[in-house]
Amino acid sequence: MSAVLRSAPDFEPMREADLRSVLEIEESIYEFPWTLGNFRDSLRAGYACWVYRDGKRLIGYAVLMLAAGEGHLLNLSVAAEAQRRGHGRNLLHHVVRVAREHKAKVLFLEVRPTNEVGQRLYSGYGFRQIGVRRAYYPARKGREDALVLALDL
Ligand SMILES: CC(C)(COP(=O)(O)OP(=O)(O)OC[C@H]1O[C@@H](n2cnc3c(N)ncnc32)[C@H](O)[C@@H]1OP(=O)(O)O)[C@@H](O)C(=O)NCCC(=O)NCCS
Repeated sequence: MSAVLRSAPDFEPMREADLRSVLEIEESIYEFPWTLGNFRDSLRAGYACWVYRDGKRLIGYAVLMLAAGEGHLLNLSVAAEAQRRGHGRNLLHHVVRVAREHKAKVLFLEVRPTNEVGQRLYSGYGFRQIGVRRAYYPARKGREDALVLALDL
């Protein structure tokens, strides 16, 4: 009898060697993606950058800035073909755990008002809207506002 055992996806700190796969996903899921330089700068600035791997395949990543009792989630992404299977929520849960371990008391993030999927993920997790940043994101026409969400840790 042969049993195929698949272990759960793993979180690992992001390394420079991951950036090609990260950028491939980033450019395929966002209309206004981060650049290679944005990810490099995040790594060099010492932000908490994580990749989420299913075996050898990189299926998601997150970038978290931690400072003075606060966390700021700058990027949370799951590859298109791996979406809708609970990975986004797992990744968010991992980020929340990391922020708590670093004694953050609150976790902030921005999301586009047009990003319903993101908003559902975050509100389902307990984030609440605390404000709006006007003209925060690039958009097809001009700029788009950002909703600022927060989660008490
Ligand atoms: C947002 C994102 C990270 C969610 O990842 P995911 O792995 O697909 O999400 P999950 O399967 O863990 O779903 C978690 C919740 O998100 C919401 N959600 C996810 N996909 C959805 C969809 N297609 N339609 C509606 N809600 C959806 C649901 O509330 C879902 O909870 P439920 O399954 O109990 O209904 C992913 O869609 C993504 O990377 N999107 C592009 C980048 C992005 O928008 N990132 C967030 C920027 S702030």
